[in-house]
Amino acid sequence: MLTGKRILLIVGGGIAAYKCLDLIRRLRERGAMVTPVMTRAATQFVTPLSLSALAGEEVHQDLFDLTKEAEMGHIQLSRVADMVLVAPATADLMAKMAGGHANDLATTLLMATDTPVMIAPAMNVRMWDHPATQRNLAVLQGDGVRVIGPNSGDMACGEYGPGRMSEPLEIVAALETALAGGPLQGKRVLVTSGPTHEPIDPVRYIANRSSGAQGTAIAEALRDLGAHVVFVTGPAEVARPAGVEVVEVETAREMRAAVLGALPVDAGVFAAAVADWRVARESGSKIKKDKGALPVLEFAENPDILAEVSQLKDNRPALVVGFAAETDDVLANATAKRKRKGCDWIVANDVSPATGIMGGSENAIVLISQDGAEDWPRMAKPEVARRLAQRIAETLG
Ligand code: CTP
Repeated sequence: MLTGKRILLIVGGGIAAYKCLDLIRRLRERGAMVTPVMTRAATQFVTPLSLSALAGEEVHQDLFDLTKEAEMGHIQLSRVADMVLVAPATADLMAKMAGGHANDLATTLLMATDTPVMIAPAMNVRMWDHPATQRNLAVLQGDGVRVIGPNSGDMACGEYGPGRMSEPLEIVAALETALAGGPLQGKRVLVTSGPTHEPIDPVRYIANRSSGAQGTAIAEALRDLGAHVVFVTGPAEVARPAGVEVVEVETAREMRAAVLGALPVDAGVFAAAVADWRVARESGSKIKKDKGALPVLEFAENPDILAEVSQLKDNRPALVVGFAAETDDVLANATAKRKRKGCDWIVANDVSPATGIMGGSENAIVLISQDGAEDWPRMAKPEVARRLAQRIAETLG
């Protein structure tokens, strides 16, 4: 609930500005007070009159309005809120924020504020994917700005892809979580994710079919409950989660080093599909076809990161969660794996090709702990992640 919370809503100049009208209604329904600020471009898409009618408050637009400076200066205006929300956050606004510009009321407020800031980006898919926008996004995240969306879908400009502003109810939910603090506030949680690549020579490697979707969803769910998440990821297909500390690695040995470097943590979730073996002698130069005999690869065993962390004497996380990807005798194999590795829980799943789980969007898991095995129905990976994160929060207390 948002009763008594004040949101400073900065509306940027994009077609998604129309969604702000509904957003204001939703926020007020939940008891929030909304102070609207519009950029000059925003007034091309929605009128100040609509915004002020819905917010029940005056709309602020001009940095140099002297009467208002006498009433409430921009510094004060930037500090009265519990949260500053920029929606839609256009590519231009994001660039100005990342660069520290302050050349109108909106950007000056964003520079002067000492309250948490959340942005809901909205723009054409090419603009979102542009390296400049992605660079600015990374800068903003590094500055502690929370990011909601954008969603993928049909866009007003006729293209398809990421760039649609999150829906008003999604933004409201994100604000509620951010303002409530969340049960994992103050906790540090490690998540490993994705495949590892084990090099054969400078151009070839051995990998597996992990997309990183489940690990990424878990990192997001833990973040949404307020945890500080260290996300150690192999070269995964899916986009990196926002608002977490990302450590990119390639091989199992690099992943091990990153994991040990991230300790101590309150909980570790080992969702990565780590290669069990690496090529014993990586060739420093490309193996040529014309050398006569076919190459024979010899393997060496990789470190078992989950087992090592589970068996640490010092620095062992209070809760260690492993995954078991099995194709046969899921329950028996996973139960034995929990004992062998020494972790607290095992999230077991059947990755036989017929299930479509590996690389797919759904998962059906069995959660195994010392108390027994719990069968979860098949559901979308983000839903599995949310329930697992909730369980972790309950267990860490
Ligand atoms: N794991 C790890 N380091 C490895 C291999 C696996 O941390 N070198 C972790 C995975 O992240 C996962 C769990 O161990 O949480 C289980 O991985 P899995 O490959 O299913 O187990 P293995 O020990 O490799 O057993 P097997 O391949 O024989 O089924």
